[in-house]
Amino acid sequence: KNVALVAGGFTGEAVVSLRSAAQVEESLSKAPYQVYKIILEKDKWYYQAADGTVTFVDKNDFSIHVNGEKITFDCAFIIIHGEPGEDGKLQGYFDLIGLPYTSCDTTTSAITMNKAYSKAIVRDVDELFTAQSIQLFGMDEYNQDRIKAKLKLPLFIKPNNGGSSIGMSKVNDWADLDEAVKKAFAEGSEVLIEEFVSGREFTVGIYKEKGEIKVLPITEIKTQKEFFDFEAKYTDGITEEITPAEIDVSVKDRVSRIVSKAYQKLNCKGMVRIDFILESKQQDFYFIEINTIPGQSANSIIPQQVRATGQSMQDFYSLLIEEALA
Ligand code: DAL
Ligand code: MG
Repeated sequence: KNVALVAGGFTGEAVVSLRSAAQVEESLSKAPYQVYKIILEKDKWYYQAADGTVTFVDKNDFSIHVNGEKITFDCAFIIIHGEPGEDGKLQGYFDLIGLPYTSCDTTTSAITMNKAYSKAIVRDVDELFTAQSIQLFGMDEYNQDRIKAKLKLPLFIKPNNGGSSIGMSKVNDWADLDEAVKKAFAEGSEVLIEEFVSGREFTVGIYKEKGEIKVLPITEIKTQKEFFDFEAKYTDGITEEITPAEIDVSVKDRVSRIVSKAYQKLNCKGMVRIDFILESKQQDFYFIEINTIPGQSANSIIPQQVRATGQSMQDFYSLLIEEALA
């Protein structure tokens, strides 16, 4: 079977996508699939052969020509973080041309790319809490008094449709809010201002196998930085990631229950990763966000969680491909 490993993308996370794609490609190198890495950039979609020859994708059917032979695909393995691979655009295109893909569908991807909308949907899952927040649709809506009236410091300021903590700040002082909001708006047209929840930070992968929801081992994130920012995410040694996390079995069971329900409620498919906080006083589960194309670089969290189960990455990715083809 021919698998298109679709990487790159139109945001600052393109560099992360290329690292993720390299790891997936390596993991599938001995699997019984012909994997072709296709790079999507704003002005060109292409495949680069081992000898350096570049061929452009035919957008009518997402085919390529290699050595004069037309290659069509049985499945697309989407590994683009952010636009256009995590926000539903590519999923919509693949639906139109009838090519199966490994991720959530168009609607779920579009909703989950929006942090505020995802929170609004999962909010009524039992035992799931979300931090107080305000969504801004433009700098002209920004009014510090309105924010002060509703939210308490410290605050997290994020591009509402971003990833990898790009454009994100933690604000401990009202005097720093203006600059943080401007920085977030530089990355996108919507900004989310959210109350900080004090507690331990975790993240967990969820996927479907033969229609059944499966939860990977939970990872605790302990960073030396003020928060788990871009540098902390992608620089070795700054952050301790403990998999499986040291938490009670009863807490683990509750987390599994909550994330499975959130996965179901958002009608997810394939692998996703939910980031959350266990609040220090009551141990309440606070949903931070869901990532429907979670990072897959060698050091990324999902690969750590999969390895912790004893399963090989080849088997795990093959299972995702088979699910997409089923
Ligand atoms: N947005 C990054 C790639 C992640 O969630 O892993
Ligand atoms: Mg994210």
